[in-house]
Amino acid sequence: MTYTITLIPGDGIGPEVADATKRVLESAGVKIEWEVHNAGAAVAEQQGTTLPPSVLEAIKRNKVALKGPIGTPIGKGFRSVNVTLRQALDFYANVRPIKSLPGLEPRFEGTDITIVRENTEDLYAGLELMIMPGIAQSLKLITERSCLRICEYAFEYAERMNRKRVTVVHKANIMKLSDGLLLECFRKIALAHPRIEPAEMIVDACAMTMVRNANILDVIVTENLYGDILSDLGAGLVGGLGIVPGANIGKEAAIFEAVHGSAPDIAGKGIANPTALIQSAVMMLHHIGEAEAAQRIEKALLAIFAQGAVKTGDLGGSATTTEFTDALCKTIASA
Ligand code: NAI
Repeated sequence: MTYTITLIPGDGIGPEVADATKRVLESAGVKIEWEVHNAGAAVAEQQGTTLPPSVLEAIKRNKVALKGPIGTPIGKGFRSVNVTLRQALDFYANVRPIKSLPGLEPRFEGTDITIVRENTEDLYAGLELMIMPGIAQSLKLITERSCLRICEYAFEYAERMNRKRVTVVHKANIMKLSDGLLLECFRKIALAHPRIEPAEMIVDACAMTMVRNANILDVIVTENLYGDILSDLGAGLVGGLGIVPGANIGKEAAIFEAVHGSAPDIAGKGIANPTALIQSAVMMLHHIGEAEAAQRIEKALLAIFAQGAVKTGDLGGSATTTEFTDALCKTIASA
């Protein structure tokens, strides 16, 4: 079977890691017709928008997309394409598995945490205003509907993946109404999933726990901002942003993308680590039912990392993106 999948290469290192990922999928024997669409600053100059409607239509039509990172100007300029995309197509669950790979000297052996981050609300709702010069306000939007469905997703994920515990991460001691609402919804949903142990943790304590004793954590469900920060912290525990994958899941479609950004400091140098996007593509293969191909790639990745001979610069090696991809494709082909 040939799948039609939308590909948004993104900017910065996006096109480099997207090319590598396409090669890896091909070497695993998955037949994909890529419908390539661009978004971000480069498109805005020609089309007057960073996110042309044709991109949204393609994702809706194909139901699955693979996406490279897209840069967002800091403190000024256009709104994040990523946030707009997640809100426009209601990709409400952002799933980020934080898992150690062999040969990387992670902070802890055998870390295996999944962060399920609410992806459409919170301080990312885009509700900001200057009340008067010198006074800015950002509104934190939390709704019962979103809290219920993200908690439901986290418990269902835990059941499907044979996990033991879901921990809700919040700051309801201070934000009693907004984070309190998440907590209330979490407790309600937990009652319907008696096989999974529910737990609660305040976000600052969670950050410390991740650094001191990450392996006591299993599945985490949390709000948009906490999830964003904790998943980069998690990436740091297991080897860095170059390896951690992610998925944005909605009721109608899903987009798979790495946790990292466009890494402008190394863009165009051919040295980016494609592992994070490759692992995102592995999540995509599981999602579309290509478990066998997904496992072939996972096995080859584990073998490459265990051998440790071919590593990109972010992991202390000297391999280029192409050298790493060549070695991975060769391992897949020879398995
Ligand atoms: P970043 O993730 O792009 O880079 C942080 C550091 O990690 C840099 O030193 C970079 O070289 C390194 N790094 C990241 N990915 C790597 C990889 N695959 N291989 C090797 N090294 C890697 O974060 P930063 O610099 O904060 O953001 C850059 C731009 O990316 C910003 O405009 C930001 O808005 C955007 N961004 C986009 C995301 C998305 O499209 N989903 C997610 C996060 C940031």
